[in-house]
Amino acid sequence: MSNLFKSVMGWVDARFPATETYEYHMSKYYAPKNFNFWYFFGVLSMLVLVNQLATGIWLTMFYTPDANTAYDAVAGYIMYDVEYGWLLRYMHSTGASAFFVVVYLHMFRGLLYGSYRKPRELLWIFGMLIYLCLMAEGFFGYVLPWGNMSYWGAQVIVNLAGAVPFVGGALVEWVRGDYLISGATLNRFFALHVVAIPLVLVALVFMHLVALHHVGSNNPDGIEIKKNKGPDGKPLDGIPFHPYYTVHDLVGIVVFLMVFCTVIFFFPDGGGYFLERPNFEAANPLKTPAHIAPVWYYTPFYAMLRAMPSIAGSAFPGVVVMGGAIAIMFVLPWLDRSPVKSIRYKGWMSKVWLGIFVVSFVILGYLGVVPSSGTTFGIPNTPLAQVLTALYFLYFLLMPVYTSIEKCKPVPERLTGGSH
Ligand code: HEM
Repeated sequence: MSNLFKSVMGWVDARFPATETYEYHMSKYYAPKNFNFWYFFGVLSMLVLVNQLATGIWLTMFYTPDANTAYDAVAGYIMYDVEYGWLLRYMHSTGASAFFVVVYLHMFRGLLYGSYRKPRELLWIFGMLIYLCLMAEGFFGYVLPWGNMSYWGAQVIVNLAGAVPFVGGALVEWVRGDYLISGATLNRFFALHVVAIPLVLVALVFMHLVALHHVGSNNPDGIEIKKNKGPDGKPLDGIPFHPYYTVHDLVGIVVFLMVFCTVIFFFPDGGGYFLERPNFEAANPLKTPAHIAPVWYYTPFYAMLRAMPSIAGSAFPGVVVMGGAIAIMFVLPWLDRSPVKSIRYKGWMSKVWLGIFVVSFVILGYLGVVPSSGTTFGIPNTPLAQVLTALYFLYFLLMPVYTSIEKCKPVPERLTGGSH
């Protein structure tokens, strides 16, 4: 280090813990040495978050949250007149889908290795709150281009609030700010999408990382590396995050960017899944799209919603089931009673149930895209969605039982694998 740099840092450190923070989170943060493929998705989530914030700020410079001009601002002005506006838009719209891809894989890793278990319960809960914010952020953002699916999607989702007993009608009106989805609704959704939710999201990601670095990372073996320390007080199975994992993560980032750019440049609408066809038409309150379906990342929950019969015309049962499907994930840390964390050492029942959960979630995702009147594998879609919804819940509800009674494999004292 040059003397000038040293003296500048000395001056800063006497006033602000710059070096201390850098060492705590990077060069002296000991991470388990056996991170695998699944550990790329945290850093990729951060990358996509930065992409969304940066492209979002730029899009806001050219967008107008006005029901008369919003569609033309996006589909016309940004796409054709603003220099590289099309790129900004596709980076943002593809980024939304990419966010859910990486976050779903990130969450799945948590399920695989029991990363939600003690002492990481709060880390998991912050993650779940992030997930809720992401869902809200995606929904509000989807309304902004004011295409026909934006309009009708907003109509369906806002009306769900009507399922709340007694106050439902008033609640829907309060959320909309009008008697129908209108410019007033667009304005408030814009405020929520560009200011309120991103602020909360960034704060939650910060707390997520603070919690992670406080307790330390889990790993594919589910062994606490802090239990095996050398005479120097450093975990024997740990390596400093910087430079080892900063360089290692670059590989994941480059591969991710290759896929991401391929989608942006060659398939920006993702075959109608990232940008849906009816959204290439302006919002039209008089023209309901033939088939209203949310974007793919909500469809497992949408399938659950549709699978439940309504009571006296109210979607209350569906809304409760859909809300319950997300709420139950919050209490996951207290449902798992296994003596071991990682799926590597859990018994066959945990493995089979995790498989059932994933398959149910994926098929429900498919069922949320197709009309509920059709059939899949020769089975009518609605009863199939009902069975899969039941299996989804059973994965969680039976967890205290199967994780207590199954036979686990012995967990080694030290980490296995690791290429460093
Ligand atoms: C904006 C979204 C998110 C960002 C930027 C983010 C960021 C990160 C990062 C950088 C890590 C450390 C690296 C890694 O383990 O992959 C991490 C770990 C973790 N995250 Fe997230 N995360 C996000 C969302 C979520 C969600 C939705 C959940 C679950 C509900 C979650 C649960 C976890 C858990 C349990 C760990 C610890 C994993 C372990 O040590 O094995 N995260 N997160």
